Amino acid sequence: MPRILSGIKPTGQLHLGNYLGMMRPAIAWQERGEALYFIADYHALTTVRDPAALRADSRRIALDFLACGLDPEKAVLFRQSDVPQVTELTWLLSCLTPMSLLEKCHAYKDHLARGRAASHGLFAYPVLMAADILIYDSDIVPVGRDQKQHVEVTRDLAQKMNDAYGPLLHLPEPSILAEVETIPGLDGQKMSKSYGNTIGLFEEEKALRKKIMSIVTDSTPVGAPKDPEGSALVGLFAHFAPTEEVEKMRADFRAGGVGYGEFKKWLFGAVWEHFAPMRTRRSELERDPAFIDGVLSRSAARANELASATLDRVRKAMGLA
Ligand code: TRP
Repeated sequence: MPRILSGIKPTGQLHLGNYLGMMRPAIAWQERGEALYFIADYHALTTVRDPAALRADSRRIALDFLACGLDPEKAVLFRQSDVPQVTELTWLLSCLTPMSLLEKCHAYKDHLARGRAASHGLFAYPVLMAADILIYDSDIVPVGRDQKQHVEVTRDLAQKMNDAYGPLLHLPEPSILAEVETIPGLDGQKMSKSYGNTIGLFEEEKALRKKIMSIVTDSTPVGAPKDPEGSALVGLFAHFAPTEEVEKMRADFRAGGVGYGEFKKWLFGAVWEHFAPMRTRRSELERDPAFIDGVLSRSAARANELASATLDRVRKAMGLA
């Protein structure tokens, strides 16, 4: 059974890009191996300064993940900070991490490019992420395309440790779904919090409708044929509607006679329907905080067991024990 691991940062509300790029594939993986998912609160501290917000966002991720179908009988879901062993492994890995490797990492580079001063935490972010992955001897890491570089750094660091100390750490493989490489946002660019173009997961009906109606389209008149390729509307619809309906939207785009406003209504309907059972589950879970606490603490116990075993092995190999 492969061991599958992924993490998601609690920095504000999750959006459809997070859902399609990471959560939905992660939930599908729970059927195929031992799945471990965590709320990356240590990572969030590189940007979040509000303790109440961090607590609330962490909690909401647990709620959203469970509502979307994470099955606590099949997968574990824990807070990263409930496994402080990862911070020790981070240090141990840091001692073999070339500065030049981290200087090439995009989160740090983008930060500098925007003229901002980076913290040591942000610079070292990929080492913490490597520790997250390596501490559970993970085989497969389902992530969005933007995280691929970090999984490559993880493999590099594992190899450096193995070269120095003998076979010690397991090299993971990233799993990136080709069809969800770029989820378009409201403005047609990649959906991302930093572009302010997201559609939130579990938006209220009115807010969702308003967001979808605000998707940027060109000024082709209703009667004229439209190009479905590269349209954010078609791009999003394709992830939520059955193939025949997507084909119909494409055909109606090409034929002309249907306006963008109408297509937006189709998209709203598809998204609203897709999340209907999850909304119901979510409101049940909201009324049962003890259930969520139970899942988080049982999961943390399992994660601790795996993490301690790896850390002991590494400490011994390095001469600390
Ligand atoms: N860096 C990831 C992100 O920003 C979150 C993350 C932290 C993660 N540790 C991880 C993802 C380990 C996969 C595996 O989305």
